[in-house]
Amino acid sequence: MKLVICPDAAAARAVAARVIARQIRRKPSSVLGLATGRTMEAIYQLLVREHVELGLDFSEVTTFNLDEYVGLPGSHEQSYRHYMRAHLFDRVNIRSEHAHVPDGAAASPDVEALAYEAAIVSSGGIDLQLLGLGENGHIGFNEPLSALRSRTRAVTLDRATREQNAGMFGGDPDSVPARALTMGTGTILDARETLMVVTGAAKADILARVVEGPVSAFVPGSALQLHERCLVVLDEAAASGLTQRDVIAWQMSHDPELTALLEAVQG
Ligand code: GLP
Repeated sequence: MKLVICPDAAAARAVAARVIARQIRRKPSSVLGLATGRTMEAIYQLLVREHVELGLDFSEVTTFNLDEYVGLPGSHEQSYRHYMRAHLFDRVNIRSEHAHVPDGAAASPDVEALAYEAAIVSSGGIDLQLLGLGENGHIGFNEPLSALRSRTRAVTLDRATREQNAGMFGGDPDSVPARALTMGTGTILDARETLMVVTGAAKADILARVVEGPVSAFVPGSALQLHERCLVVLDEAAASGLTQRDVIAWQMSHDPELTALLEAVQG
């Protein structure tokens, strides 16, 4: 695991967008795993700007989103398909048949989950998986107690998740769908690289458990400690619960990959 602690959320988003854009430039046919949530909105905005102003080309890129609410068709305003169209897909030159989001309205979520796993495999596997972090430690919708080797499947959402995501559903946690389709923690760990972006003081405690705590099914994000190429990008607020700051600071100023990344973003 490599960590980058940025002075503020804007800098963290710039680092994340830089890593994604670099991946697309290095391999135009990249397979990207994408995430939703408020943290990602500004990252997609930066990628759109990079597309418009600097010609970042998505024409050969394939994407697979982490998750979708069960029961919501892609046309539904609160669906993650709708979110992705609004923030990225309709604003860059990605081909619609290359932009995958699990189908929340599938007649059988179990069949859809299997088909989604198969589609990831037949695309050649995910090169770079973007991840946020839920306040309860979830990645995708892998809620506490999700098996560390779980695959794409339908899950029951945790109460904390329905409360956290209620804002998108008129503020009422009971209006948030009860179930979702999500890539599994094991599916996420199969990505060749992972990039987790966490900002804000509300996630400081859970982020410390993800990075410094034991690997535990109670904190699904902690599974990233097992990933060989995982970059965690934070702002100071999200990093404020970490106790090993000297170790992280040393790595940030001595690891050539991290120093190059920070230099590039600083100008
Ligand atoms: C949702 C998504 C997660 C995401 C989380 C964080 O629950 N399923 O993949 O990490 O939101 O959201 P936010 O960035 O809004 O805090």
